[in-house]
Amino acid sequence: MSSTEELTIRDLRPRDVRPLLEISEEAFSIERQMFGGNPPGLARQIRLMALLYPLQRRLPRPTAIALIGLVGGAPVGAVVVDPMKPSWYVNTMMVARDHRQRGYARALMEALQARATRSGARWLLLHVRDNNAPAHKLYESLGFHEFERRHEMLLANPGPVNSSPLPEGYVLVPRKRYDRRALAVRDASREPEAARLEPPSRHPGIVMRALGAFSPPADSDYQCIICGGGWVGLWDYVQSSATASVRLTVQLVPEHRGQGLERPLLERAIVRAGQSGADRLTISVGSTNRTLLAACDEVGFNTRFVRIGMARRLGQDG
Ligand SMILES: CC(C)(COP(=O)(O)OP(=O)(O)OC[C@H]1O[C@@H](n2cnc3c(N)ncnc32)[C@H](O)[C@@H]1OP(=O)(O)O)[C@@H](O)C(=O)NCCC(=O)NCCS
Repeated sequence: MSSTEELTIRDLRPRDVRPLLEISEEAFSIERQMFGGNPPGLARQIRLMALLYPLQRRLPRPTAIALIGLVGGAPVGAVVVDPMKPSWYVNTMMVARDHRQRGYARALMEALQARATRSGARWLLLHVRDNNAPAHKLYESLGFHEFERRHEMLLANPGPVNSSPLPEGYVLVPRKRYDRRALAVRDASREPEAARLEPPSRHPGIVMRALGAFSPPADSDYQCIICGGGWVGLWDYVQSSATASVRLTVQLVPEHRGQGLERPLLERAIVRAGQSGADRLTISVGSTNRTLLAACDEVGFNTRFVRIGMARRLGQDG
C-alpha cells in the first residue's frame, strides 16, 4: 500500500451519511445516467440504514455490513455488503476521487474479506461494469474470477407498439411481489453459474421492507406467467418515484424460453411505459439467455454496458 495518510476502518455511523452521499454522487454517475437516480430517496434510505445499523447487525439475518474508510477522521470510502449465507454480496465499493490509487479500496476489501471469513461466509460476490478498468483490476488482483455476464439494456422513449398476445397456454396473473413461488421461479431462471454461487432468494427482512417504504415506486406491477397450472416466469414493472425511468424484469425458467413469450412480454412493458409517459425502460439480461437478448434487440433495446459477475472463494489464497 502506498498511502500517504493512514486509513482507519470501522463500521458505519450516522454522521458518515452526508460525506458518503457526496462520494457516491460522483462515483456512480454512469449508473445514475442509465437507471435514473433518486438522490432524495437514496439519502433517506442511507440515513435510516445508519440509524438501524447497530440493531440490525444483531438480528439472526443482518441486512447489511458497511465498512467505512477514514483519513484524519473523515470518511473517504466505503464497502457495503449484503451478508447472505453462504455468499456475501458486495453492493457498493467506492473511494472518493481525491483519495484514489493509494491502496484504500484494497484495504477496505481485505478488511471485508477478513470479516466475512470470520463469520463463516464461503464466497464474496459482486458485479462490475466491463468498462470499469480500475474496479475490474482491483477485484482480479484480489483473486476474484468471472462467473457470469449480464447485458444492461435500455430502450429510450418507449412509444406505441403493437402488442402481440402471449402464446396459447400461457397467462399473466397479478401476484404478490415476494410470493414464495416467485422466489422459486427467480432461482430457477438464473444463469447456471450464478445459480451455483448465489444464495437462494429469500423474503426481504423487516429492515429491507422499512428501507423500501422510505422511497416507494411511483408505479409498480408484479405478474406471474402461468402454464399448465404452474408458475414458469415473472414479469416485474417498477417505475421509480423520482424519475421517468422504468425497470423491467422478465424471468423465464429455461424450458419455457424460445416459445414466443419474450416478445409479447417486452411489448406489454413498452405499451405501458409509453402510456405512463416514462422516458426509458431498462432491463438486465444474462448473456446465456439468447432468446430474451434477441427479443430485446428486435423491439429496440440497446446494450449500454455489460456487468461482469465476479466471485472469490474465501478461506483460500488467491
Ligand atoms: C474502483 C475504486 C474503488 C478503486 O479505489 P482505489 O482506492 O483507487 O483503489 P486502490 O488504490 O486500492 O487500488 C487497488 C488496485 O486496484 C487497481 N486500480 C485502482 N485504480 C486503478 C486505475 N485507475 N487504473 C488501473 N488499475 C487501478 C489496481 O490493480 C490497484 O492495485 P495496484 O495499485 O497494486 O496496481 C475507485 O476507483 C472508485 O471508487 N471508483 C468509482 C466507483 C466504482 O467504480 N466502484 C466499483 C463498483 S463495482
